[in-house]
Amino acid sequence: MRDALTFTDLSKTFAVAKGLLGRAKSQVHAVQPLSMSVEHGETLGIVGESGCGKSTLARMLVGLLPPSTGVIEIDGHPLDPSDRAAFGKKIQYVFQDPISSLNPRKTVRQIMEAPLIHLHGLNSAERAKRIREIFAAVNLREEFLDRYPHEFSGGQAQRIGIARALAADARILILDEPVSALDVSVQAQVLNLLSDLKQQLGLTYLFISHDLAVVEAVSDRVAVLYFGSVVEVGPAEQVFAAPRHPYTKLLANSAPVVGRPLAQPEMRETELPDPLNPPPGCAFCGRCPRRIARCDTERPPLLTQSDGVSIACHNPL
Ligand SMILES: Nc1ncnc2c1ncn2[C@@H]1O[C@H](COP(=O)(O)OP(=O)(O)O)[C@@H](O)[C@H]1O
Ligand SMILES: [Mg+2]
Repeated sequence: MRDALTFTDLSKTFAVAKGLLGRAKSQVHAVQPLSMSVEHGETLGIVGESGCGKSTLARMLVGLLPPSTGVIEIDGHPLDPSDRAAFGKKIQYVFQDPISSLNPRKTVRQIMEAPLIHLHGLNSAERAKRIREIFAAVNLREEFLDRYPHEFSGGQAQRIGIARALAADARILILDEPVSALDVSVQAQVLNLLSDLKQQLGLTYLFISHDLAVVEAVSDRVAVLYFGSVVEVGPAEQVFAAPRHPYTKLLANSAPVVGRPLAQPEMRETELPDPLNPPPGCAFCGRCPRRIARCDTERPPLLTQSDGVSIACHNPL
């Protein structure tokens, strides 16, 4: 069977204004060319610190942001980057901040109906039936339908965000820090819901978080992202139990409890490299305890090892 989702050489460069008058343009390489596949029914975790390119990758994958280079395929069929409806039927986004991601002027019913009308052309009786089914699946009460987003708690709002993503009938969900804004007790409920939905509906997840413990708990495979590039990818238990890339080890060492964010900006020993002026060699070498001479000048390629783990490092553990 073909993989559910494949992206090849997917990258994003932003042109940003430089200098006082903002006339000169400079390039920010938010995502370096990335190639990965996600199997049907798999959860691929993407972990990395704030600013490493996670949301940029997610927004490209759901058609919200046109890639600078690369191809996105669903079940082996390339998606046309300009065809938003084609993306919407296949792949949906669940946002980090549940309340602000829902339109404050629309009722939950209007929010739920939009994809049913625009993507599937359902009539009013069909829409009501479909909404009832989805609300039952995500444990939301139907009386919520006539309320507005600000009337909900974070956990309820995130259930609504998940319900909206399911309404499109897409089989692939891109979950971008779906529990990071929630209280720890609510995080577990939402993670359990996502796990149940995946089983019941046969979904495929790309689960993004800066919180290694959360990613470890939900992922089959995990990719560690640093400065817009994958530095290590492999089976979740293997990557976290025996990290091979010094950056993965740094993340794993500071990760004891579920819900505790890792490697927060204030915990950094040194800053991330300047995105306007990327280093010529390995982007991590300024923070790396295992740095050797090559690291300063040669960018390490992502190479698959005999045990199936891929790493981009000149001097791995
Ligand atoms: N619209 C934009 N214009 C310019 N730079 C951007 C834009 N969006 C994101 N970036 C930059 O791209 C990098 C990755 O950002 P992002 O994908 O949001 O990271 P993450 O989700 O991992 O925190 C950052 O350096 C960020 O400042
Ligand atoms: Mg983000």
